[in-house]
Amino acid sequence: MFDKIVTVTLNPALDVTIWLETMDFNEPNHAVREEYDAGGKAVNIARVMTSLGMPVRALGLCGEDNARQFLSLLTADHVDHDFVQLEGVTRENLTIVIPDQRVLKVNRAGFSVSVEGMKRLRAKIEEEIAGVDKVLLVFAGSLPEKLTPEAYKAFLLSFRREGVAFALDNAFFHLSDIAEIKPFLIKPNLLEFRQISGSDLRTEQSIVKLARSLTSCVDHVLVSLGGKGLIYAGKESGCRIHPPQVQVKSTVGAGDTTLAAFLYSLQQGMSPCDAAIYGSAAGTASVSLDGTGVVTSQMVEEILPQVAVKGIR
Ligand SMILES: Nc1ncnc2c1ncn2[C@@H]1O[C@H](COP(=O)(O)OP(=O)(O)OP(=O)(O)O)[C@@H](O)[C@H]1O
Ligand SMILES: [Mg+2]
Repeated sequence: MFDKIVTVTLNPALDVTIWLETMDFNEPNHAVREEYDAGGKAVNIARVMTSLGMPVRALGLCGEDNARQFLSLLTADHVDHDFVQLEGVTRENLTIVIPDQRVLKVNRAGFSVSVEGMKRLRAKIEEEIAGVDKVLLVFAGSLPEKLTPEAYKAFLLSFRREGVAFALDNAFFHLSDIAEIKPFLIKPNLLEFRQISGSDLRTEQSIVKLARSLTSCVDHVLVSLGGKGLIYAGKESGCRIHPPQVQVKSTVGAGDTTLAAFLYSLQQGMSPCDAAIYGSAAGTASVSLDGTGVVTSQMVEEILPQVAVKGIR
């Protein structure tokens, strides 16, 4: 498969979860627990790959004001990283858990990207892929201020050459972009698949039909359906995966986990359908964890026997 996997995060986040025991609008409320994680979709993907034991390099941009904190969290997760530091702050995504377990989410603004910053990142990626026979670049997540989807696509396509493949998890590409990029893998959820295609996709049959038609330009199409599971369509096979019901703590990052675990399984030599089953089981394992907790292979293996799968027509 690939000799190297590199994740690219342009808009990372410092995920901060704060637990309160009181919800008082007149007196200060004290945090009884606080947790910090390095976040952003491609960062999550790199954290899961690392946890599963697959080598990955995490590249990207971050804000220099809190870079030390952000990067030390990645180091603590044993993620092999190299980020370009830009003027400004890495955005903080706050999750405040109030006493009745409801959550309040606040996404703060972060750095805005400069042409110079993108140039520095391009040089790092070029350096990373130089001389590698088969490399997969994983582009996932939102864009920082001042970077348009068009500029992002041009950035991505500038790495296109023999031996370089792309995995995409972005909400803003359309079918025509995908036909142009010809990615190795896409993993939209249903809402994203509707946005990509501009159609309602009311029935499962219509989702399968579109996923299959995309295999003319994408090697592996994974459409995740939250608790309803996953549809996999590839050039040679396809399957519909139903995960077991589990107690849900947080669904954030389930799709990132699925994507990471699918790639991990392919790298291990599994068939695409078996890799999709493993990916779905990993996503399901992740929803039983708090916040941005990362699954281990042991957790995935506990779910695996309970996953049901059938072929698609
Ligand atoms: N409530 C749930 N119960 C069981 N499994 C779930 C649940 N939600 C998600 N999963 C598993 O995780 C996989 C990916 O989930 P989902 O479709 O929610 O991804 P997503 O919307 O891309 O998530 P994110 O972008 O936050 O990472 C599903 O295919 C399924 O296997
Ligand atoms: Mg997702």
